[in-house]
Amino acid sequence: MPRDRRDYYYRKAKEKGYRSRAAFKLKQINERFNIIKKGDTVVDLGAAPGGWLQVAHELSGGKVVGVDILPIEEIEGVETIKGDIRLDSTVEKIKDKIKEGADVVICDAAPSLSGNWSYDHARSIDLAESALECARKLLKPDGRFVVKVFQGDMFPDFLNKARDHFVKVQAFSPQATRKQSAEIYVIGKRLLPF
Ligand SMILES: C[S@@+](CC[C@H](N)C(=O)[O-])C[C@H]1O[C@@H](n2cnc3c(N)ncnc32)[C@H](O)[C@@H]1O
Repeated sequence: MPRDRRDYYYRKAKEKGYRSRAAFKLKQINERFNIIKKGDTVVDLGAAPGGWLQVAHELSGGKVVGVDILPIEEIEGVETIKGDIRLDSTVEKIKDKIKEGADVVICDAAPSLSGNWSYDHARSIDLAESALECARKLLKPDGRFVVKVFQGDMFPDFLNKARDHFVKVQAFSPQATRKQSAEIYVIGKRLLPF
């Protein structure tokens, strides 16, 4: 992304009080796909520092739960859990907070980058697969899912896995994503029965 555009979202986030410029990615995803609706229960995986949580709370006004291996500073109206999304124990902790299930699971989790492209790609796919498993365990029937993936040779297989579990699956790159970034968001609508 050219520096001025990157700075544009950085400045806009500061101005609006969002904790990350990623907040605008979720807004743009939602404008296009209508993922989060008023009153929805939303689970955000890999949520620190909390930009997506702020947007999810604004859009839903319902129950919003954020999970990260890092601590998340308090956001009014949002519950947080410190945990690794790859672990069943974390899924159980989330379930305790949303007994009725989630309408939406969103995941912007990213591995810390090593600089070795295929290694980082594989770790991103691994996280996205964990997020897909969490979504299957947490979502109500017909629930919606958004997950970030770094594109690469394992991406088509991941898309096919997502297609096994959702009626409609699309890939989308919001404007707020850097132009040269390999990240892309996979959107799943209408979870199929387990
Ligand atoms: C790009 S940041 C998320 C930014 C967030 N969407 C926002 O708007 O503030 C990615 C996050 O994924 C988290 N993460 C990476 N691996 C994780 C894992 N296995 N379990 C939980 N969180 C993880 C990182 O700690 C990091 O905070």
